[in-house]
Amino acid sequence: MTAKFYIVGNWKMNQKLEDINSFFNDLGEFSTERQYEAWLAPQAIHLPTLLEKAKPLKIEVGSQNISDNDSGAHTGETSPSSLLDAGGSFTLVGHSERRAIYKETDEFINRKTLLSLEKGLTVIFCCGETLEEREKGMTESVVGHQIEDGLKDIPENLREKIIVAYEPVWAIGTGKTASPEQAEEVHLFIRTKLTELWDGTLAHKIPLLYGGSVKPANVEGLLIQQNIDGALVGGASLKGADFKALCDAADKRSKIPGQLQG
Ligand code: PGA
Repeated sequence: MTAKFYIVGNWKMNQKLEDINSFFNDLGEFSTERQYEAWLAPQAIHLPTLLEKAKPLKIEVGSQNISDNDSGAHTGETSPSSLLDAGGSFTLVGHSERRAIYKETDEFINRKTLLSLEKGLTVIFCCGETLEEREKGMTESVVGHQIEDGLKDIPENLREKIIVAYEPVWAIGTGKTASPEQAEEVHLFIRTKLTELWDGTLAHKIPLLYGGSVKPANVEGLLIQQNIDGALVGGASLKGADFKALCDAADKRSKIPGQLQG
């Protein structure tokens, strides 16, 4: 359990301008006085629109992907410094869709993570096993390696700007959520791994988000787990009313006394 809960919407390659307008209309009453964090990652092209609409609501805006270079001849990429310059504050790195479709390796993901942190972004580092890997009992070895290799050589002073998102590939966009117990088991493993790699005090400050078919109907059961500090949400973050319902659950969870640390 870390100091705050997080609801992060990953809009993926969805949302036209009219959908974005509807999203903000449907958010309804959205208090800016809150103990939890509400963040959104739109397509890069919508970053300015999002910043205009989300910043007044104290919703942080970030990128779904980032370059491993900061400037120059890298057609089609987004540089960490430009993202910051435009007003973005975080980026996802190593999402399973990038790993699977665009063949991103742990080494490449590590370079992106390091550069983004050095430039001042917060990194949401994604990891998770496929169904085949889970069925073969390889969940811990796969996730363990993704963390060891992807978070290799991160200087001590930059580690606090990392958030880890555990997203079992078999639960993403499938409607099949990991049960709260299944998710908690892996989150505890990740917390222990970070304790081994770094140290316990820091490991307990790194927010661990769960992702994979999270929706208003199942989010409370996930957030109540000891090592689940928030959710990274795709499909259910596209509609303002659903995003608000997820945020309300984080708000409710944040108000349970004596739970928060860090
Ligand atoms: P989902 O996506 O909530 O639609 O399963 C989560 C993610 O890929 O981040």
